[in-house]
Amino acid sequence: MKEKITISLIKADIGSVAGHHVVHPKQLELARELLEKAKKEEKIIDYYVFNCGDDLGLLITSTKGENSPEIHELAWNTFKEVTERVSKPLKLYASGQDLLIETFSGNIKGMGPGVAEMEIEERPSEPFVIFAADKTEPGAWNLPLFRMFADPMNTAGLVINPNLQKGFTFRVVNVIKGEYVDLSAPREMYELLALIGTTGRYVIEKVFSNFDNSIVAVCSTTRLSLIKGRYVGKDDPVMIVRCQMNFPAVGEVLAPFAFPHLVAGFCRGSHYGPLLPVSLKDARCTFFDGPPRVIALGFQLCTGKLIGLNGKEPADLFADVAFDEAREKALEITEYIRGHGEFMPARLGPEEMEYTSLPEVLEKLKDRWVKE
Ligand code: F6R
Ligand code: MG
Ligand code: MG
Repeated sequence: MKEKITISLIKADIGSVAGHHVVHPKQLELARELLEKAKKEEKIIDYYVFNCGDDLGLLITSTKGENSPEIHELAWNTFKEVTERVSKPLKLYASGQDLLIETFSGNIKGMGPGVAEMEIEERPSEPFVIFAADKTEPGAWNLPLFRMFADPMNTAGLVINPNLQKGFTFRVVNVIKGEYVDLSAPREMYELLALIGTTGRYVIEKVFSNFDNSIVAVCSTTRLSLIKGRYVGKDDPVMIVRCQMNFPAVGEVLAPFAFPHLVAGFCRGSHYGPLLPVSLKDARCTFFDGPPRVIALGFQLCTGKLIGLNGKEPADLFADVAFDEAREKALEITEYIRGHGEFMPARLGPEEMEYTSLPEVLEKLKDRWVKE
C-alpha cells in the first residue's frame, strides 16, 4: 500500500517588528535553518516557512500522521527557539505571544499555535492551496468555504462534474462548547447555513468529499481567549484546501475571495473589517492595524515533496491582477466602516467583546451604576 502523506500547517505569532506589523527576516531564517536540519535528519519530508503579517507559518510534510507528537514538538521547538534566539534578543513586539504554555505536552493544539493538518493518500497529481490570514479569526473561513464546497454559483464543478454533485460534508465545531456536528450539503445546506452564519461560535473545521469520503479542507480552530479565558493575542487562522479532479478547481477555491467579506479581528480583535486578498509581499497590516489580510499559496505535492516555482517558492495566487478590484473594493469598505469609529456594527457585539480588553473598562464602572 502507498504510504500516506501528512500535511501540517502550524502558525504562531511569536513577535514582530513595528508592533503587530510583520515578522522579522531573522525569524524566518532561523525557522528555515531548524526545519532544514529536521529534513536532513529525515524526520520530515519537506517544509516551507512563510509569514502572513506578524504570524510565522510552518508548512511541513511527513509520513507521521495527524497529531504526531514528533511533528508537533518540532514545530513547538522551532517557535520556542526562534523566540529565544531572535524575538527576545531583538526585543521584537509581543515576543513569544502565542506560546501560552511553558513545556510541550505531546500535542501543540491547545498550547497557543494554530494547527491545520490532514493525512492524505497522495493522488497521481496533488495540487493544494494553503491560506493564512492576519487580524482575523477562524470563522473568517466559513463564508469562502461554503462558497467553494456548497455554492453552485461559485463552483461550477458542483453543476458540471457528477463526482462533485455528490456534495461535501462539513464538520462544524461549536468553539464555545468544544463539540462538533457533521452536515452534508446540498442535503443539509440550510441547517449548515443556520450554524456557520454565526462565525464567532460555529466554525468549519474540516470538509470531506461525499464522493469518496476523502478529506478536502482543514482549518485551524484555536480560540486563544477560550484557552486562557481572557484576551491573549489573536487566533489568526490558517487553512489547507486540496484542489482539482473530484474537488473544486484552484480557480473555484480562490473565487470567493474576490468578494471582500467582513470579518472580525480588525484592530484589537474588536472590530469588523473586509478581508483583503494580498500577495505575500503585501501581507503586512498597517491602517488601524489592518485591514485584515489573506494570502493564498499554491503547491503541487510530489511524494510528499513541496513543488512550487523557482525552487521553493509557491504560486503566490492573490498576487494576480484579477484580485485588484477586490482590493479596491475592500479599501472602500474599510473607509466606510471606519467612519463608524467605536459604534456597532463596526465594533463587535457585546458577546464577542467579552473576549477583548473591554471587560476591564466595564469593571471600572461597575459601582457607579444608579437604579433609574
Ligand atoms: C494584534 C492586533 C492588534 C492589537 C493592537 C493592540 O494582532 O490585532 O490590533 O490588538 O495593536 O496591541 P497591544 O495591546 O499589544 O498594544
Ligand atoms: Mg502580533
Ligand atoms: Mg497576526
